[in-house]
Order: sequence, then structure tokens, then C-alpha cells
Amino acid sequence: MAYNFDEIIDRSNTGSIKWHYDDDTIPLWVADMDFKAAQPILDSVQRVVEHGILGYTKPTEGLYESIINWHGSRYDLALEKQNILFSPGVVPSLALMMHVFTEIGDAVLVNDPIYTPFMTKTQQNGRTLITSALKEVDSKLHLDMEDIEAKIVEHKVKLYLLCNPHNPGGRVWTKDELKGLLTLCKKHNVAIVSDEIHQDLTLSGHKFVPFLKLADAAGYAHRVVSLTSMTKTFNVAGIKGSMIFAKDDALIKKISQQQHLNDEYELNLFAYTVMQSAYEEGGEWLEQVLAYIEKNIDITLDFLAWHLPDIKVMRPEASYLIWLDCSAYGEDDQALYDKLRAAKVELNSGIKYGSEGHLKMRLNVACPEALLREGLNRVYAAFSDNQKTG
Ligand SMILES: Cc1ncc(COP(=O)(O)O)c(C=O)c1O
Repeated sequence: MAYNFDEIIDRSNTGSIKWHYDDDTIPLWVADMDFKAAQPILDSVQRVVEHGILGYTKPTEGLYESIINWHGSRYDLALEKQNILFSPGVVPSLALMMHVFTEIGDAVLVNDPIYTPFMTKTQQNGRTLITSALKEVDSKLHLDMEDIEAKIVEHKVKLYLLCNPHNPGGRVWTKDELKGLLTLCKKHNVAIVSDEIHQDLTLSGHKFVPFLKLADAAGYAHRVVSLTSMTKTFNVAGIKGSMIFAKDDALIKKISQQQHLNDEYELNLFAYTVMQSAYEEGGEWLEQVLAYIEKNIDITLDFLAWHLPDIKVMRPEASYLIWLDCSAYGEDDQALYDKLRAAKVELNSGIKYGSEGHLKMRLNVACPEALLREGLNRVYAAFSDNQKTG
């Protein structure tokens, strides 16, 4: 079926985190799309409601098969049932991994900029946060291998949290980049947790490589875990639910034991249902939404190049999030954010993603085109009054 992503759906008074205003501000921030979910997903939920029994539920063989087929056919990642655990979310799993791979006080390395919970979960769990700045070359972020190795050695890093594809920079790390990182971590016996929640939002011209596949081939699977979910891909984040993949039996046992300490190994009936229908029947919706997102990215890049050429834009290789360098329009992060809010449009302030996010903003284009265009007009209104610092 053909989906209509132009439809504007009123999300006010639904408890939406994204639409939290009492005026007509346009949200171009948190990573959530303003599109209705795929019809097969909605139908699967409907079937559960019609059945009427919402009792204790466990993952079915069909669910495991759907996960195995999705990852095998799309990414050539060979999984078996015993490689898969469930978790209420990727962020809870990031926190869990601190306990699997490290002790209190141990050093955990993350890149800067990075999705905020990589930093906060490390610190909240009493680990020492070490950062390695990504290098910008030709409007793209790159891993700084020399810096990463130096930090690993200097701080005796135990765990590296990788974001693949990268949020907020939108990089889909290439096989060579990932292999380089793997070689480094293996050399220094650093465990790697790869957050791959944006894997399915890889855009045309780029290829997502699961880190676990490389680790397995390199004989390092006992030190690598990947985390992913259907929630970002299919815009069902309110459902909550994610997966943990590990290919080493002893490691998966250790993770499972850690999960059982807090009884956090189960999902709810709707999460299992949505996960299975998404992986079995969501492909058509995903293909269409990605085409719509690519069009919105083009619209945004054209608009900014024409109206606000002093904003330096990073074209994403995955996801609907665009990383903008707004340093020409201010010297203070809060003032930049406030200026946009005053123009009734909200973007994420880049500084929330680490010090490399200073004077950057993250813009979400996953909304109906009409909303996006009005949001961009407001960004223009906020910045065009001049305030350019030169
Ligand atoms: C890189 C990354 N990891 C994790 C999450 C959230 O995962 P969850 O909702 O499963 O905790 C997000 C949401 O934007 C994300 O961008």
C-alpha cells in the first residue's frame, strides 16, 4: 500500500514528549517521527486487542525467526535464538553493559559528540567517562584512531561505547573504519558495545555493517555486544522494547544473569507483537518512509544553502537527524536555542551531545513536508534578523 506521510496528525494532549507546548511551536527535535506507524503493525496490535487476553507472555518462536530473518537477509548477520536477549530499551541496556564489562571507577570511552545517554549512563553508574573527539573532515565526522588509542592506554579503558550509525553526526561507519577500531580494541583488550538502533535508517549510497559480524570473524565476539531495536526504525518508540545480541555463550549467560538481578529481561505483549509484525511485514513502509526522509533532507539542505548559507550542514548518511554548525549565528549555546524557541521552532541544542556540540544544533526532518517547511521558515526568521557574528 502507498502511505501518505504528508498527513498532519494532531499529537497534542497525547502525552507526546515531542509535542510538549501550549502554543503552536513546531518540534524539529527529539528522534521521533510524526508519521503513523505501518498498517501491518497497527493491525497486529488490533488483533491482540480483539483477542482480549493480555496475560503474561513470552517471546514466541515466530518472533525469534522474524529477528533472525531481518538481520540475516538485510545485513548478513548470522544470529541464532541463543544469541538474542530482550531488553526494555537500548538505553537501559547501555547501563546494563557497564555492569557486564566494568567495575565502579573503570574508564569507559565514548566519542564526542555522542547521543547524551552514552555519557550520562556512564557517569550515573560510577564509571569514569573518557571522550575522544570526532574529527571533522570534508563535512563528515571521522574516528580519530590515534586519539582513541592514546586514551585507551592512558586511562586503561575497559569499555568502548560505539554508536553505529552515529547520532548526532549521521555517519554510517565504513567496514574499514570499524575494522580499524576493532583491531585497536582487540589489541588493548577493550570490550565494545555497539548501539545500532539507527541501522535500518541507513540512506541510499551507504552500507551499514553490523559490528558483531566483524568481531565474530576476527575471533573477538566474546568481548562484543550489539544493541538494537525496532522502535527507531518503525517509529514505535512509545511501545518500548529492544534486543541485545551477543555471539559468545559465556557472554550471553553473563548478560542474562545481570538482567535477572533486576528482573529486566522481559517485554510486554504489545512490544513482542509490534516487534514481530514490524520485522515480518514492515519493510514496505520502511522503504517508503526512507524515500520521504531523503526528500525532506534535500528540501532542508536546499533551503539552508539558499537562505542561511552560513550554517554548515552535515548531510546524514543514516537517520533523519541533521547536524548543523550554527556558530555564525551566536556565541552562546543557550542563546542560540532560545532564539529558535522565540521563533516557535525547537531543535536540539548540540552542546547536550558533548563539548564538540558547542554552537551546533540537531534538526529532525521526519515530519510532513508542510510542517518541515514552516519550521525551516521559522529557523530563517530566528537567524535572519541578523545577529550574525561574522
Ligand atoms: C543512538 C541511540 N540509542 C538509543 C536511543 C534510545 O533507545 P531506547 O528508546 O530503546 O532506550 C536513541 C534514541 O534516539 C538513540 O539515538
